[in-house]
Amino acid sequence: FSLKNYNTFGIDATARYFVEVTTIEELQDILENNSYPRKILIGGGSNMLLTDYIDALFIHVNLKGKQIVSQDDNNVIVKVMAGENWHNMVMWAIDHDFGGLENMSLIPGNTGTAPIQNIGAYGVELKDCFVSCEAVRIEDQQLVTLSKEECQFGYRDSFFKNEGKDKYVITSVTFSFTKKNHNINSGYGAIENQLLKESISNPTIKDISNAVIAIRQSKLPDPKELGNSGSFFKNPIVTKEIFTRFSTKYPKAPFYKVSEDYYKIPAGWLIEQCGFKGKRFGDAGVHKNQALVLVNYDNATGKDILDLAAKIIEEVKRKFEIEISPEVNLIK
Ligand code: EPU
Repeated sequence: FSLKNYNTFGIDATARYFVEVTTIEELQDILENNSYPRKILIGGGSNMLLTDYIDALFIHVNLKGKQIVSQDDNNVIVKVMAGENWHNMVMWAIDHDFGGLENMSLIPGNTGTAPIQNIGAYGVELKDCFVSCEAVRIEDQQLVTLSKEECQFGYRDSFFKNEGKDKYVITSVTFSFTKKNHNINSGYGAIENQLLKESISNPTIKDISNAVIAIRQSKLPDPKELGNSGSFFKNPIVTKEIFTRFSTKYPKAPFYKVSEDYYKIPAGWLIEQCGFKGKRFGDAGVHKNQALVLVNYDNATGKDILDLAAKIIEEVKRKFEIEISPEVNLIK
């Protein structure tokens, strides 16, 4: 079974078995079935890099639906099923004037996989609107609820990438949106510039969403046109000591202060300084507008992309003595 249409990198990897589930019961049944060598879950396929042949059953989680759970004058609680496309869900919220996720417009992927890496963009992360999620525990197929605290969200990180790894299948996510008195988050430089360009001084959530969409479209490749998985690497977080040494040597480098002791350095900048931006190696390449994004020009294999990633990691380490690591999940 070809997975080409199930991963945004457009890698033509082959799965031994493939099944799509549209109800929680179907999901529980297939998880209970022990006749497969290995099971791999797939949602929007926007954060994975597949290798060529995978001896496993791929379970495509395609649970649909959105439901308003409760609301008062200020907030509305909405439960969204895992298979709902993230961006369409954000657009639905904005159309209802439900605020909170507008800075995360146009992120590829599905709602159910978003908590795994606590997706984030332009100053907002999924955790900021997150209430809880439901998941099927693989071990005993029980449907359980995980609170925000239990999910242990961090920068591109959660319980599901650590102790909970490969143990749960998220089936729905419950968000809390604002109904009025929206918390407009326009402090991110790129958003400020975009609003200025359009002479908007009192932005609505729709204005913020439009600004984010314009910025993303100008920088990030559309997976429908050019296979990619968004940021391929995480931005490295370094200690103050390492950062001080680094910034003395490279005073022009951009950075974000994470806390008194830690600083985040944009990996895109490091990669660009190593000369990789816009470079192509066979069918694998580094995007011309955002060096953090690796792209598949046509028929790159998972290995082509991995080889390029390894080359980049090595070069960044040699030049800056900073180790960057992949953000995407490697599936082999
Ligand atoms: N930069 C360069 N060269 C590049 C890319 C970036 O010099 O090729 C510099 C920029 O000039 C800027 C800084 O790096 O000063 C930051 O760039 P940008 O605002 O584009 O953000 P980023 O840190 O590269 C992160 C997220 C993105 C998210 C943006 C906006 C990670 C790994 N990536 O990128 O998330 O959209 O911030 O908030 O944290 C994703 O996860 O797939 C993703 C696209």
